[in-house]
Amino acid sequence: MFYLFVSVSICGSFTYPSEVSLLLILHKKENLCYFSPWRGIAPDPIMNGMNAKRMKLGVLGSGKGSNLVAIAEAAQAGEIPVDIVLVIADSPDAGILSRAEFYGIPARYISAGNSKTRLDGEAEQAYIQALREAGAEWVALAGFMRIVKADFLKTFPNRVVNIHPSLLPAFQGLHAWKQALDYGVKVTGVTVHYVDSGVDTGPIIAQAAVPVLEGDTPDTLHQRIQIEEHKIYPAVLKQLAALS
Ligand code: GRF
Repeated sequence: MFYLFVSVSICGSFTYPSEVSLLLILHKKENLCYFSPWRGIAPDPIMNGMNAKRMKLGVLGSGKGSNLVAIAEAAQAGEIPVDIVLVIADSPDAGILSRAEFYGIPARYISAGNSKTRLDGEAEQAYIQALREAGAEWVALAGFMRIVKADFLKTFPNRVVNIHPSLLPAFQGLHAWKQALDYGVKVTGVTVHYVDSGVDTGPIIAQAAVPVLEGDTPDTLHQRIQIEEHKIYPAVLKQLAALS
């Protein structure tokens, strides 16, 4: 393990030691600063997320909901100024729904219609309406297996974010950890990015690296990626709340 010292002028003139597998992150347009997800957000003299307006967040998912749990726990512990106002799943059996209920978060299954890959037409409108009624101002995709389209993105301009289990732009699409293993990369990771009309293509907000180890299987690699996901997603939301 070694140390990296990073000094970023737009964030203030300080240095921050970070264990390296990590990356750092800068989203210049938003003046966002992010440092090692292993250490959490660096002491930030300019943007202390806890002084920010609270973020009213909707979360969309299709799976087990471990990222929702990470965000909910950080929010309930008072570590991030986020209120999760609604969780929507596109499958009635998705674990994310029961996990939301466990944390007392309103949760709904809403059919995503006939398309297996997209959220469009009446289903898109139903999602928008539910999120609006719940007061959502931001939307976090957390394992939501459908592409959100123009009307949805226009409703929440620059306020839809996604987490993807690779260092984008590498390994877009499904099972990114398996793609990384099959390719033979030595380092992969996780990316949080704004959602645009493409698939895993929007502007990158933050990334964290995860080494690929000898003997990794798709499952072991994905598990280690998820450990980083559960740190970086709440940390990014905290910073975005500070900017909004
Ligand atoms: C995560 O690996 C995320 O990066 C990807 O889908 C998975 C969702 O996991 N987009 P979970 O449902 O939050 O456990």
